[in-house]
Amino acid sequence: MSENNGKKTFYITTPIYYPSGNMTIGHTYTTVAADTMTRFRKMQGYDTYFLTGTDEHGQKIEKKAQESGVTPIEYVDKIVAETQDLWKLMNIEYDDFIRTTQDRHIKVVQKIFRKFYEQGDIYKAEYEGMYCTPCESFWTPTQLVEKDGVKVCPDCGRPCQPMREESYFFRMSKYQDWLIDYIETHPDFIQPAKRANEMLTNFLRPGLQDLCVSRTSVKWGIPVDFDEKHTVYVWIDALSNYITALGYGTENDALFRKYWPADVHLVGKEIVRFHTIYWPIMLHALGLPLPKQVFGHGWLLFGADRMSKSKGNVVYPQPIVARYGVDPLRYYLMREMPFGADGNYTNESFLTRMNADLANDLGNLVSRTVAMIEKYFDGVVPAWDANTAEPVGEALRKHCAGLPKLVDEQMEKLQFSQALAEIWKVIGECNKYIDLTQPWVLGKDPEKKGLLGNVLLTLAECVRFVAVLIGPFMPSTPARIFEQLGVTDENLKSWDSLNCFGMLPDGIRVKKGEALFPRIDVNKELEALSGGADKEEKKADKEQAKAAKKEEKQAKKAEKQEDEYPAEISIDDFFKCKIQAARVTACEKVEKSSKLLKFTLSLGEDGERTVVSGIQKYYDPATLVGRQVAVITNLKTAKLAGIESQGMILSAMDKEGNLRLVSIEEGVADGAIIG
Ligand code: ME8
Ligand code: MG
Repeated sequence: MSENNGKKTFYITTPIYYPSGNMTIGHTYTTVAADTMTRFRKMQGYDTYFLTGTDEHGQKIEKKAQESGVTPIEYVDKIVAETQDLWKLMNIEYDDFIRTTQDRHIKVVQKIFRKFYEQGDIYKAEYEGMYCTPCESFWTPTQLVEKDGVKVCPDCGRPCQPMREESYFFRMSKYQDWLIDYIETHPDFIQPAKRANEMLTNFLRPGLQDLCVSRTSVKWGIPVDFDEKHTVYVWIDALSNYITALGYGTENDALFRKYWPADVHLVGKEIVRFHTIYWPIMLHALGLPLPKQVFGHGWLLFGADRMSKSKGNVVYPQPIVARYGVDPLRYYLMREMPFGADGNYTNESFLTRMNADLANDLGNLVSRTVAMIEKYFDGVVPAWDANTAEPVGEALRKHCAGLPKLVDEQMEKLQFSQALAEIWKVIGECNKYIDLTQPWVLGKDPEKKGLLGNVLLTLAECVRFVAVLIGPFMPSTPARIFEQLGVTDENLKSWDSLNCFGMLPDGIRVKKGEALFPRIDVNKELEALSGGADKEEKKADKEQAKAAKKEEKQAKKAEKQEDEYPAEISIDDFFKCKIQAARVTACEKVEKSSKLLKFTLSLGEDGERTVVSGIQKYYDPATLVGRQVAVITNLKTAKLAGIESQGMILSAMDKEGNLRLVSIEEGVADGAIIG
């Protein structure tokens, strides 16, 4: 945070998303997190700036547009409009939305690229590859496919010719040692910390390659202004957004001077590499300070997979919001998984949380508190009766008074789920307090009026604290609570008013309203939510059945011509297999099967898998627990003896014809990629 007229600044960004398709609940996750953090800092008095946007250049978009028969800009315009509608729907209050097709961005990227070239960070070089003239496509030898013994274009199948292509390259290697040192001496720069280790071990210490930063084959990009055949590599283009949006490199750079360096770039873990290697090097080459932090959060998974448009397992927020409102979804996204870890989205866990956390815990607390003040004090918040001791609530009042600090500590670390957990601890304690003090019993005894008043005032003040603190997460809920609580004074809705417990004035009038979050019937809602998906599911089932048949056919064919592997495959074919090291955490015989063993495998950060393997004859399952195995993890799942097997364990036959598991040397992390 930089100082600015005495007010601390806070600049936060999301990735700029590809408008190649509509934004999913995954993109919504990052954006809601950034919005929540911004609102929290703003409430604390920071001068905040929140940037999001879209990354609109590149071949992928070009192709998508072509498929839809529109120009690239027509294609992205539509998706950008829909994206902005979605952010409005989600109650996202960004300060700026940058599009990489905007002039303000293009001009500065060209300037940055030229500067790199002029100062010798970028050089031009030629490299040889294969060219398909009809397609005007340049291919590396490994991209070619073989047809009748000839290497041909993977797109059109026609032969290719050797050709030289020139490209610009960025001397990344020059900055490698500086960056290693920077990362090692700035432990907060890459968060969570384990991601810093990944970067150091996997990319930096083995040595950085110079990066190809221009393309002649991609037309939909920012032209290199001194060599117009070339367009700027999309990542150089995209990463620059974080400063071009602030007017860096223009006459109007007040925002840049005020907000840079960013406090935090929020990104999904798959793009941490770009943000912690290329981006810092670019900034350093420009003589600029680095962002204070890059936080690589985990993935929202759907089933066992990362949600992705190409896999078709996508959840969109709109139907959920239409049925339940924005705040429950925002709450769920921020509560369900620790920021940094992966987690599954399921309708069931969402609905369960709605009932448990929102309807039961929070909703009931508010409605009970208001209802009891109505019943016992004619709806007027009672004054504290200093002559009546109320020892039972002492701990609660103290706990609640300390809550803002606890929440702040978690938010400082971007631990949204923990911050909410702290708030819900107080909510839980309040509900327990009601059960303990039994206001309905006190209400029967006129002599206990003072005590009853103190209990209800304690509850009402706790509710006020909670209402203020959940605001950044659930922006439209506090107003509904304050309305019921009769709080109209804006000061009482502020972060500063939480400085001391007991600010709620007596004499204000509560007003019972609708239930904040009505209880829902989970089973009924599950059906309603999957109703729309039903058709899709049936279609997917059909496709699966078709694919299974095809596989069967292929398997039969393979049986006939055993060992008939293609004489040669490309490295790309090999890389299609995701093989990972996995730890056996449980292993048992599959009932009623003499062949199968059921494995529970840990892939470390990538979670758990169930895999069924036909090696019962060769191993005692108990001896396998704790051992590491090699598993293909992106194999289509198969049902074996009624169990869904999510992968294949690698094994080989020994001289006696027994299957032996492929083993892995010590020191390899669970989940590590084998290849
Ligand atoms: O990568 N779980 O854009 P993109 C969690 N244009 N986060 C998810 C997610 C999921 N299932 N799906 C998407 C790009 N995200 C580049 C970025 S930045 C200079 C350029 C979020 O459309 C998450 O933040 O593929 C992830 O990093 C981002 O969307 C990827 O968006
Ligand atoms: Mg991506």
